[in-house]
Amino acid sequence: MSADKSEHVWFMRRALELARGVWGTTHPNPMVGALVVESGEIVAEGATAPDGGPHAEKAALAALGRAPRPGAVLYVTMEPCCTEGRTGACTESILAAGISKVVIGATDPNPAHAGRGFEVLRERGVEVVTGVLERECADLNLIFNHWVTTGGPLIAAKVASTLDGKLACRTGESRWITNEASRADVHRWRRLFPAIAVGAMTVLKDNPRLTVRLPGVPEWCPWRFVFDGLLRTVVDKNPPHVFTDAFRDRTIVVTTPHGGLGYVRKLREAGIKVWIFESSNQRVPIADFRRRCAEERIPGVFIEGGAQLISELIRARQLDYLFAYHAPVILADEKAKSILTGMRPERLEQGIRLADVRHDMFEGDLLMRGRVVYPEKMLIDESVFAVR
Ligand SMILES: NC(=O)c1ccc[n+]([C@@H]2O[C@H](COP(=O)([O-])OP(=O)(O)OC[C@H]3O[C@@H](n4cnc5c(N)ncnc54)[C@H](OP(=O)(O)O)[C@@H]3O)[C@@H](O)[C@H]2O)c1
Repeated sequence: MSADKSEHVWFMRRALELARGVWGTTHPNPMVGALVVESGEIVAEGATAPDGGPHAEKAALAALGRAPRPGAVLYVTMEPCCTEGRTGACTESILAAGISKVVIGATDPNPAHAGRGFEVLRERGVEVVTGVLERECADLNLIFNHWVTTGGPLIAAKVASTLDGKLACRTGESRWITNEASRADVHRWRRLFPAIAVGAMTVLKDNPRLTVRLPGVPEWCPWRFVFDGLLRTVVDKNPPHVFTDAFRDRTIVVTTPHGGLGYVRKLREAGIKVWIFESSNQRVPIADFRRRCAEERIPGVFIEGGAQLISELIRARQLDYLFAYHAPVILADEKAKSILTGMRPERLEQGIRLADVRHDMFEGDLLMRGRVVYPEKMLIDESVFAVR
């Protein structure tokens, strides 16, 4: 690697750290980090501000508090925007500051911008270096990238299973399959996603809090969706945490008219939101749920189970991204519950695959995550999804 390239990588790693510092706070904007380097030294740093505030490049230039010296280089994890937007084009701020060289990580996937930021800068005489740590810089914004290219939310799911894909023993015992470090990582992803979702049975069996509890930071609550077409979770005795805790106004029950209006009223009176979807049975059509999230400007949903809900998302081809944590444990029992069910592929090419795969290790557990790619033809056992 040339000295120049290794220097670029080194500074881009720092810009990535700055971007990660605003993890989960910038929706629907991407997380971006930027820094200004003069004579090989970092003299100013910035990251995307929340709620439509300044972009990272502007934050770094503002933090400098003076004009950059001749030869100053700006590093930024994503291509600078070149349209006015709410905060003005970043390319114009860079040009106005007199920066003569910009080093960029990922291309902005927004079709209105992609590659145009580079062009605008080059046309005006700025040296532009692209593609430094491109994969890492793009991966950081998997929610934003999906949102700007599809106009809808990234629907992701997390599964935690044994090495042989089981989520519980035949007795139902499932706590805990994965280790503490993996579970802490799940909290980190929860903090990234603006919304989290579970099926009714997970609420009834596990009574999860579905908040983010990370060391040194106050407990935080994303939007919490509960998929419950018949409102089975509305119980008088020991109602679940998500209906009673201090964050209950962040809970949204996703249901159908088959759930019963009395229960809907009861939930709303307790300050819980309810989204009702037309459906011929008790299952909410996931494509309609996706559309509603888009309307409400919720760019990402992290589904935390259980098996039935996630299998249903796959059957409907509505799962975009999968986080699969594997523990080094083997049950080797066909009666132990499998994490995903309902498909009957006869050929390997009919399997569902992950693309853009990334791996992380957590003290012996393994996370494999990636974009879900569906086969042309899926053979489905409809009896698995029959409503009772
Ligand atoms: N290992 C892991 O990663 C993990 C994660 C979470 C949970 N779990 C375990 O999984 C178990 C629960 O899983 P599960 O498969 O039994 O149940 P589940 O997926 O949590 O919930 C299924 C319920 O969700 C409702 N539902 C599903 N799709 C729906 C839709 N499209 N619209 C409306 N409602 C919908 C169904 O209602 P109807 O029956 O009324 O149709 C059903 O009652 C628990 O024991 C938990 O410990 C494991």
